[in-house]
Amino acid sequence: MHALVTGGAGFIGSHLCDALASAGHTVTVLDDLSTGHLENLASCPHRFIRGDVSQFDDVLEAVRGVDCVFHLAAIASVPKTVADPRRSQAVNLGGTFNVLEACRAHGVKRVVLASSAAVYGMGTGKPEFESDLPAPASPYALEKLSSEYYLQIYASLYGLETVALRFFNVFGPRQDPSSPYSGVISLFCKHLSQKMPVTIYGDGEQSRDFVSVFDVVRALILASQLSDPKGTVCNVARGESVTINTLYRELAALYHCDLKPQYAPAREGDPRLSVASVEKAERVLGFKAALSLKEGLLRLVQG
Ligand SMILES: NC(=O)c1ccc[n+]([C@@H]2O[C@H](COP(=O)([O-])OP(=O)(O)OC[C@H]3O[C@@H](n4cnc5c(N)ncnc54)[C@H](O)[C@@H]3O)[C@@H](O)[C@H]2O)c1
Repeated sequence: MHALVTGGAGFIGSHLCDALASAGHTVTVLDDLSTGHLENLASCPHRFIRGDVSQFDDVLEAVRGVDCVFHLAAIASVPKTVADPRRSQAVNLGGTFNVLEACRAHGVKRVVLASSAAVYGMGTGKPEFESDLPAPASPYALEKLSSEYYLQIYASLYGLETVALRFFNVFGPRQDPSSPYSGVISLFCKHLSQKMPVTIYGDGEQSRDFVSVFDVVRALILASQLSDPKGTVCNVARGESVTINTLYRELAALYHCDLKPQYAPAREGDPRLSVASVEKAERVLGFKAALSLKEGLLRLVQG
């Protein structure tokens, strides 16, 4: 297969490119390098196109000759999308629309979208099912949800094979800890590896469904192979929620660090509990996360 990975120089995209290339697939990457890095692709044979998914011509050039598009390029930071909703709309929704239109123009068969648990909003305090009513609370979440709907419409109107995967909290090597809003695990690792104190917002009893990037890559590849997908939407998670305090303890032990965390006031809009139902991913996609949190963290810390 010839795969196009938009956002392929980023955290998740680069691991996907590695897996696709090692399985013998041809890989093209379209990335504007706004948060991605070419070094992430150092070990992966690929064709690189520096371009912007919000520009239709860039996308049109990239999809030529491709069998499947993995559409991961996005402004993946919720605060950034709140600060600049116009750009966010152009990239996160306009980018998806451009991918779909370019695929229609060039007869590309399949699109797999990186969607997000953010579509569930503040959550219900119970496992989130794909059939639950979404409650997007940011431009980012709304644009991911609208992207999913676009995929479904292109599946039913134009026969495009589309799948959207709602990632929960993804972690692993290459996750960039440079922003305070980065994934909590990459921030904790950065601080613990330098024996610097870690800040936990709130009481630390809020919990998240963390899933290793290696499992997420498996889910993406399964989605590219699913027969007759018809715009399917699936959660990608472990289906288990872990508190931030527990996560801190696990990581501190791996770094042999006995520093106590510092606590700061809770951040507005942080859900108390986020956990996925993984029943549909197992049934429809044949996906079950293989790595426990401990195994995933060990793989991350050992590099
Ligand atoms: N990391 C997570 O926990 C998580 C959770 C849910 C969903 N997601 C989604 O997964 C995808 C990948 O996220 P990530 O964590 O790897 O983030 P990332 O920022 O590392 O990767 C995004 C990539 O897209 C590129 N990009 C951004 N805007 C672009 C544009 N206009 N044109 C072309 N390329 C552009 C960036 O340079 C980067 O390489 C995103 O769609 C994100 O919304 C991530």
